[in-house]
Amino acid sequence: MSVFLSNWEIKSINLWLSKMHHYKDNSKSQRANKAKEILQLEHKMIGNGRNRIVYDLNNGYVLKVALTEWGIQSNKTEFKIYNHCPVDLREHLCLVKEDGHGWIIMKKMEIEVPDEIYNKELAQLKNKFLAAGIKPKDMWKSNMKLSNKGKITVVDYGNFIMY
Ligand SMILES: Nc1ncnc2c1ncn2[C@@H]1O[C@H](COP(=O)(O)OP(=O)(O)OP(=O)(O)O)[C@@H](O)[C@H]1O
Ligand SMILES: [Mg+2]
Repeated sequence: MSVFLSNWEIKSINLWLSKMHHYKDNSKSQRANKAKEILQLEHKMIGNGRNRIVYDLNNGYVLKVALTEWGIQSNKTEFKIYNHCPVDLREHLCLVKEDGHGWIIMKKMEIEVPDEIYNKELAQLKNKFLAAGIKPKDMWKSNMKLSNKGKITVVDYGNFIMY
């Protein structure tokens, strides 16, 4: 059961997950296209990485569906880190609302991080994570957005390691 997804949508995600392994050697875009075709979700796709496809739920939230086994793991990692990190780091991690097998619901974030802020604050932010026992990985600009409060917020922390 989910607050954000219908039973039909969850069934559809499970169908994709059961077929996903056939496409593990495909390119990133081929895999996303195949997922899109099988998922048949009525939402707009707004992005994809190697491991997850991202849909806009049109209510301020996004749905990320795994494209690979690592994508399943990444979703689990984000759910765990968001819910167990120190409170003062939360504002730098995209809000997680719900998760299930192979999927996660996060707040939709739209503002690109200006170069100026990225260059000035990245090192300090990395140190803040390290000091909290969290190893930040893939801190590229494409994995971050700016919060309404002007804070750098990581939207892809699936590869972070929390000790
Ligand atoms: N919360 C969000 N709000 C808006 N856009 C998002 C959000 N999360 C992800 N995206 C967009 O979708 C893209 C893919 O998401 P994400 O980086 O989480 O996937 P991934 O497969 O884990 O990436 P990678 O290839 O780096 O492993 C992001 O680069 C970003 O453009
Ligand atoms: Mg990414």
